[in-house]
Amino acid sequence: MDAIRIVGGAQLNGTIPISGAKNAALPLMIASLLTDEELILENLPRLRDVQQLQQILSNHGVSYMIEGKRPGMDSMDGQIVRLQAREIIDTRAPYDLVSKMRASFWVIGPLLARMKECRVSLPGGCAIGTRPVDFFIDGLKALGAEIDIERGYAVASAPEGLKGAEYEFSKVSVGATHTLMMAATLAKGTTVLKNSAREPEVTDLANCLIAMGANISGAGTDTITIEGVEKLHGARHSVLPDRIETGTYAMAVAMTGGDVLLKGARADLLQAALDVLEQTGTGIEVTNEGIRVSRNGSALKAVDVTTDPFPGFPTDLQAQFMALMTRAEGTSTITETIFENRFMHVQELARLGASISLDGQKAHVEGGSELKGAQVMATDLRASVSLVIAGLVAEGETKVNRVYHLDRGFERLEDKLTACGATIERISA
Ligand code: EPZ
Repeated sequence: MDAIRIVGGAQLNGTIPISGAKNAALPLMIASLLTDEELILENLPRLRDVQQLQQILSNHGVSYMIEGKRPGMDSMDGQIVRLQAREIIDTRAPYDLVSKMRASFWVIGPLLARMKECRVSLPGGCAIGTRPVDFFIDGLKALGAEIDIERGYAVASAPEGLKGAEYEFSKVSVGATHTLMMAATLAKGTTVLKNSAREPEVTDLANCLIAMGANISGAGTDTITIEGVEKLHGARHSVLPDRIETGTYAMAVAMTGGDVLLKGARADLLQAALDVLEQTGTGIEVTNEGIRVSRNGSALKAVDVTTDPFPGFPTDLQAQFMALMTRAEGTSTITETIFENRFMHVQELARLGASISLDGQKAHVEGGSELKGAQVMATDLRASVSLVIAGLVAEGETKVNRVYHLDRGFERLEDKLTACGATIERISA
């Protein structure tokens, strides 16, 4: 199995192109199930999760065609992919496919809306908490579906079709908002989703659905209203830039020092994280081309952070920020409020010399640790990349095992960092 080898010590300088967002790409691809016409997605990142979802969708009958390179296109540019679910040939999503990625459970919304029945395995995904699916089930039931859990499958039907309703999420959920919004586009009547997720990826999906003929208002606020329509049609949509990839590289530069342009990044997608980085003493400049991040010689200040749904500080940047804080002056307290078990990187960061103590949902990070290279491994995507960030400043060699986690969500990570001066390579372990 591949590993990533890093020799710490180099500053990062140059340009990193930001890819299309994984967490927007996945629901957008799933939206192709809602129409028999072609959905063309531009700026789709080359990621293992995207490939995995392609397999799941093809099992339902979605054809998937990657367009060839065009004149002027760079190898770092996103792909253009044509998806078409002319006919749904199978409404079952089996365990062996769904268990690899939680987001694949979201097909339950479009399948139920278009086919009036489906049988979807309960999900797997990163080991970051229990991550139940009760909001999906309750929400779809509110739209008139009958759902039973049978031997690890959600067996759903709505013989008369889904019907618009009001539903309030008891806690903000990105995936449940995506799923109910997609389902409601083809329901009869009006659906009002209260306490909806306001994440930019929800707005991106809503924009794409609107381009497909859906009638949606309020995406990006906590109340989304959807007037059901008879049918959706094809559309062309460009995936928004990845705010988590942006924040990750911004933290890498804050860690190593240097000056990097994150090309194509949009500050409005991660303002809370950029504000925190500025408080640490990192330079952030928003330009026409993207976001420039710099730190030259100044010490890093410890800052306390609490993760929150958007527009708060994202849980998907918590591990990376923790890596950064191991090098700050003073102690930083990081509070995780979204997932109950998202501190598995703590013991791996400790292997590199970090001093972090856990107290329930809080981690106290003692700054100023001299990190030293070691073998490490992580059990989820963002935790893995936090180890890469730490490895960039650790003395000597760090080997990050289980690279497949990184490949789920970071496109050409080692190429992007190498281009900015890091010593990082993929090796066969
Ligand atoms: C999305 O996961 C992201 N995944 C996650 O990114 C991200 O960490 C998370 O949102 C929070 O921002 C994708 O977009 C593909 P949730 P999702 O439903 O939708 C609880 C990454 O690294 N909950 O918003 O699965 C749940 O347990 C990934 O890219 C219920 O209780 O997360 C959690 O505590 C990891 N019942 C909270 O809500 C439900 O039915 C928020 O989860 C659903 C969720």
